[in-house]
Amino acid sequence: MTDQAPAPYAGPERVLSGVQPTGDLHLGNYLGALVKFARLQHEIPTFIFVADLHAITAWQDPAKLKNQVREIAAAYLATGLDPKVATIFAQSAVPEHAELAWVFNCVARLGWLDRMTQFKDKAGKHKERESVGLYTYPVLQAADILAYKATKVPVGDDQKQHLELTRDIAQKFNNDFSAPNFFPLPEPLTQGPGARVMSLRDGTAKMSKSDPSDNSRINLTDDADAIAQKVRKARTDPDPLPETAEGLEGRAEARNLVAIYAALAGVTEAQVLAEYAGQGFGAFKPKLADLAVSVMGPIGGEMRRLLADPAEIDRILTDGGQRARALAAPTVAEVKKLVGYWAG
Ligand code: TYM
Repeated sequence: MTDQAPAPYAGPERVLSGVQPTGDLHLGNYLGALVKFARLQHEIPTFIFVADLHAITAWQDPAKLKNQVREIAAAYLATGLDPKVATIFAQSAVPEHAELAWVFNCVARLGWLDRMTQFKDKAGKHKERESVGLYTYPVLQAADILAYKATKVPVGDDQKQHLELTRDIAQKFNNDFSAPNFFPLPEPLTQGPGARVMSLRDGTAKMSKSDPSDNSRINLTDDADAIAQKVRKARTDPDPLPETAEGLEGRAEARNLVAIYAALAGVTEAQVLAEYAGQGFGAFKPKLADLAVSVMGPIGGEMRRLLADPAEIDRILTDGGQRARALAAPTVAEVKKLVGYWAG
């Protein structure tokens, strides 16, 4: 016996992430995820999909779902993803996701899924009325990632637990099927001040598509007036901004606006405080509004322009689907062999 650590995963670095087509995207989705996709595509091969399989874990109108997928694709393009650089596709175009998810359903343990806080939050008190798909949602997410042997997953903070589960599934699969390092143990990329954007109405609640108050979030489709008005109306406190981050302790709304400013400007929170320390929100909010309008304002217009030509979006998604499938299919074929399927 040797006490040498097993060799690390030796495959190539790959970025993969996705967004569900279940409602208007907002500043949280943008700062937590989309803005990183556009940046990473120039560094590492990047695969970004629209999670239409995940979407139906809650009811979706079949007459609208395809268009919802196009809207997310338009958001990807409008925020800088380039279909010539990144692979952009719809999850349902690559059947290997669902095929691999079945194998992973048999690898993951019930106890692991019972711990998932997102399921508990979404199901609330009546989990027996939820779809079985909502419960196994994170297993499909693991399949999304591992079908491409992705190593880096840019997501918001709320997805960290799903990434831990993905690593557990990868590790157990590698052990169970005596295939050391077959799957990598992917890392969430959640660094930076935009990883957890909070509601503009309540600094202790996450900014969310499902919040009934539209003033709680800035939507990607909001025009300049709406963006500026939502920033003006954002909840704050009467104190001036402190000199250091410690001074934001217990000031959830103030902390959130400083983090949003930092993320939008591409600077640290400390840099924002160095500039605005001692100033009240009467002075800070107009600066934040101007910044938000300059970054977010053009995105909605660009999305509308792209959505006016759905055939072009469909062309991009079809092409991306073929490229994605070409990568996922050999991995899933190997999985079938490792599992010992008759048709493997
Ligand atoms: P979804 O559609 O709920 O969210 C899309 C992305 O936006 C991030 N996000 C936030 N980031 C910061 N602050 C917020 N308030 C905020 N709200 C949402 C989410 O963390 C996410 O990155 N399960 C995924 C979809 C998915 C996926 C995957 C992601 C399915 N398979 C594989 C990565 C890899 C989700 O919840 O998407």
